[in-house]
This record gives sequence, C-alpha cells and structure tokens, in this order.
Amino acid sequence: MDEPEADATDAIDYDGQLSEAYEPGRRISAEARATWWAAVEPYVAAAGVVADLGAGTGRFARLLAESSAARVIAVEPAAGMLSVGTGLAPDDTRWVSASAEHIALRSASVDVVWSAFATHYFDLPAAARECARVLKPGGHMLIWHAYPEVFDQLEWYRWFPSSLAIDHARMATAAEVIDVWADAGLHLVDRSVHQMRLTDDLDGLADRLAHRAISTLRLIDDAEFETGIANLRARAAETEPAPVYSPNMMLVFAGA
Ligand SMILES: C[S@@+](CC[C@H](N)C(=O)[O-])C[C@H]1O[C@@H](n2cnc3c(N)ncnc32)[C@H](O)[C@@H]1O
Repeated sequence: MDEPEADATDAIDYDGQLSEAYEPGRRISAEARATWWAAVEPYVAAAGVVADLGAGTGRFARLLAESSAARVIAVEPAAGMLSVGTGLAPDDTRWVSASAEHIALRSASVDVVWSAFATHYFDLPAAARECARVLKPGGHMLIWHAYPEVFDQLEWYRWFPSSLAIDHARMATAAEVIDVWADAGLHLVDRSVHQMRLTDDLDGLADRLAHRAISTLRLIDDAEFETGIANLRARAAETEPAPVYSPNMMLVFAGA
C-alpha cells in the first residue's frame, strides 16, 4: 500500500498540537475504564512497580495509579506530552523522559510493563529487548492497541477514506509484534480483544474526532478531515442514537 504523502514527523507533533488535543480528544469513559480494568486486573492488581511505556499525557498511568497499589512510572519521550501528564498525574507517579528503545530504568526492576497505542512508534526489536531487560523474572508485558487485525471493526475509518491505507502502511500487525517480542525472549501468553465504549452516539464520536487527537487524522489533508466530520454529523442527525465502541487488542507476554 502507498505510504502517506504527509511527512509524519511534522504532522504528528506530540510536543505541540497533539499534546494539547490529547486529553479532550481521547477521554476514557467510565464504562471503558471498567472494561479495561477487568482485562488488566489479573496482571496489575498485585504488581509492585508498573512502567507505562509511551505514556503520553498519562491517561493510563493515572488509571493504573488509581486502580492499583502499584508504584507507577510513566516513560515518555515527548516533552509536550510529559508536560501535560505531569500536571495531571498523582504526585507519586514518577515521570521519566525516555524512549522504549532506551527505557532508562534498572534491569529487572519492573513487575509489569504496560504500553498503549504506542508500539507503532517504536523500533520494535530494540524496544522488545529493553522490555525484556527491565522486567523482573515472572513479570508481564501488556501491549494494548487497535492492531490491523481489528481495523475492520473501527467505526471512524469509514468517515476518512484514506486513513485505513495510511495505518496499514505505518502499523505492524499484532502477529508481527508477537514474533519480535518472542525473539527478545518474551512469549505471548494471552491475546484478547476488548470493546471500549467511546461515546454515547455518532454525534459524540464527531465531537471526539474533531479534536484530531488520533495521529492518523493529522496525516490526512484538511479537506478530507472536514468532509469526514461533516458526513459523520449528518449521519448522526438521521440515525437513532446508539453507543460507539472501539475494539482494543491486549497482548500479554511473559519471560521464559
Ligand atoms: C498515541 S500516543 C499514546 C499515549 C498513551 N499511551 C495513551 O494511550 O494515551 C503515543 C505516544 O508514544 C510516544 N512515543 C513516540 N515514540 C516513542 C518511543 N520511541 N518510545 C516511547 N514512546 C514513544 C509519543 O510521544 C506519544 O506520547
């Protein structure tokens, strides 16, 4: 498939506009939070230290800190995301300015590595080796993402025609990630898909997408973006309100 025409390094600016759009545009509903916790609780509830890799503004780092007794370490390279995140997180969350390829934590110091919607930015082999290095024996790595295997279930792709090809071109499949992690000695022990409630209806989805907090929507041109939002609002006006869900895949890895 064609590569996106836009220069991703310019359009996806986690130091600037995206860091400002992220919190209002990527809110986690109460129902989605409950769905997420049911999935992660078996791994996180008794963990002493959880590292959130590519933590962004700390959406999940905050949930991890609020839902468990774990000490949470948010690892994030973009100064803009870090700045928003440190202002919102509980004081005892530790923020580390670092990348997945150089996690900047001690070896065998983390019970659970959590990473959401970030692996498409990683140098996967280097990140997998780092995750294996920082995990304690018996620890788990949880990767949470809408991988290409579930793209056909994502409502928002329908409204922005070029977005699907863009994401196929830039995102590894879950199967590919699983192979890379296995090469680093972390083997898949569970794989599941969780339907996260995004909004109450299509109009709510339009409000959410209008923040352009999904990086793919920064890679399509402005005309396509505006047309997609307008078409979505028109559809919302002519249909009965119904909740919108998004499928998120969780991959669980453990050492040998
Ligand atoms: C789509 S956001 C997800 C943020 C957060 N995990 C969430 O779900 O709200 C992707 C994040 O990955 C970060 N990122 C980009 N390259 C990275 C790398 N090499 N290592 C770690 N994080 C990275 C970005 O700065 C951004 O904050």
